[in-house]
Amino acid sequence: MTALHPTTDLRLSAAMREGSRAEHQAAEDSTFMAELLAGRVNQQGYADYLLRLRGVYATLEETVRAHRADPAVAAVHDTALERVDALDDDLDHWAPGGPRAVDSPAADAYRQRLVAAAAEWPALLVAHHYTRYLGDLSGGQAIGRVLDRTFDLGGTGIAFYDFAQIAKPKIYKDGYRARLDELGTTAGEQARIVDEVRMAFRLNQEVFAELGERLEAYAR
Ligand code: HEM
Repeated sequence: MTALHPTTDLRLSAAMREGSRAEHQAAEDSTFMAELLAGRVNQQGYADYLLRLRGVYATLEETVRAHRADPAVAAVHDTALERVDALDDDLDHWAPGGPRAVDSPAADAYRQRLVAAAAEWPALLVAHHYTRYLGDLSGGQAIGRVLDRTFDLGGTGIAFYDFAQIAKPKIYKDGYRARLDELGTTAGEQARIVDEVRMAFRLNQEVFAELGERLEAYAR
């Protein structure tokens, strides 16, 4: 990313996707996700998931905003993606009047890593940004539709999956990947960012694992 380092022909976006393929599959296969998509998680279970996401996105969006002058962070930062307000709207639906904070070691560890990654090298935030928002704009769209059907929501309570300012997710994702690729990262920088993508997937996995331990209480 600096003129002092040689650039590489590798595309950062491709390295991030290829480098996290196994982790993505593991996330898809997590018991909590599978049960949720099969319609076997109740309102409390989904609310508990949203509460964890709320904490994670609050920290993600705060750290990204704080580092938006960094060229790598600037390449992806976009207020149209921000999810905290949507999560609050959804929590009003799934847990009306309930708390907005949650006791969650997995969410806390995720938030702590976001802060530490930003302090270590702000470009590492790109890995976290990619893992959540490109996921939300991809498989997340299907998850929203399944929830809508399963709980017969009529489009309510799923604001999290609705990016009102992004009309065409596919085109948006193409532009996002192009901006990553234009950063001119070196092979060494790419390796660090890909490692952080894997870390981000693992942190998500830990959130699913935590929820998975409570599936009996969430049975629907
Ligand atoms: C059952 C759960 C999931 C399903 C069915 C799913 C499905 C998909 C699909 C079909 C794509 C490809 C979309 C495309 O080609 O544009 C995708 C991309 C992606 N997903 Fe997932 N996903 C799931 C869970 C997750 C989770 C938990 C995360 C991370 C927290 C995640 C992160 C991503 C990312 C970052 C991409 C973009 C890959 C890229 O193009 O570089 N996904 N997902």
